[in-house]
Amino acid sequence: MSDISPFLDANRRNWDERVPIHRRDRNGFYAIERFLREGKPLHALEIGELGDVAGKRVIHLQCHFGLDTLALARQGAIVTGLDFSPAAIEEARRLAATTGLPAQFVCADVYDARRAVTGHFDIAYVTWGTICWLPDLTRWAQTIAALLEPGGFLYFADAHPNMLILEERDGRLVPEFAIDTPADRPLVFDEAQTYTGDPTPLTASRTYQWVHSLSRIVTSLIDAGLTLDFLHEHATLPWPPFPMCVPAEGGMYRLPDHIPAFPLSVSLRARK
Ligand SMILES: C[S@@+](CC[C@H](N)C(=O)[O-])C[C@H]1O[C@@H](n2cnc3c(N)ncnc32)[C@H](O)[C@@H]1O
Repeated sequence: MSDISPFLDANRRNWDERVPIHRRDRNGFYAIERFLREGKPLHALEIGELGDVAGKRVIHLQCHFGLDTLALARQGAIVTGLDFSPAAIEEARRLAATTGLPAQFVCADVYDARRAVTGHFDIAYVTWGTICWLPDLTRWAQTIAALLEPGGFLYFADAHPNMLILEERDGRLVPEFAIDTPADRPLVFDEAQTYTGDPTPLTASRTYQWVHSLSRIVTSLIDAGLTLDFLHEHATLPWPPFPMCVPAEGGMYRLPDHIPAFPLSVSLRARK
């Protein structure tokens, strides 16, 4: 495989630039003010599937600026958030100080997570907008297995890969991307703005992403020695993946009624 680090460097620059825009939260996408005022719960989906986290050692991979990490801390988890964006980690530490919630934040690539943190974890928490940024799921799954205590588990919830290959054109959903993107030939996106609706232009607008099939996700975890407890498919997602999507309950989005149903997201628990 050729060197994939230029792709990850470009992605990091993009994420660094998004952080202050997301933190300003002009249109309330991240509901940061509400978080600071009254705490932001995770979505009902994660809460229902994750169970009680009080007293559990949780590593939150790709934690962005730490909102969900701090939400987990608020529920009594002993949390470590990890992200490769220095700007995100700086902001996460600031938010932890502002809220007074106990949390450790580590700046590292997911693939370096085992070296970057000490100890083992009861839960690896990986949700919403994660593996599309990772070229190699075998290394991802091995990293997670190495972070977990025996008996500990990965909780994963993210966009469904079968949905990620579609684009909306003239009111129809059409396949646009092949599934199982090769590590050294990522999908290239040029997006002038971030996804929150804030019009601030991005300079580092080019990103590189990968679509991993459901079988690749599951098989990488099994090959890393984990056992699947459940795999669920859901009709909703925390952001509208297509312009045609409509709001659903609990801050989620779903397909409009005239589109034949298919899952927009997938969640699973895999145990070491
Ligand atoms: C959509 S955000 C995830 C949001 C997250 N679900 C949350 O709790 O808000 C994607 C995050 O992945 C991080 N990221 C992307 N590639 C990464 C990598 N190779 N290693 C570590 N973090 C990475 C980005 O910096 C960004 O903060």
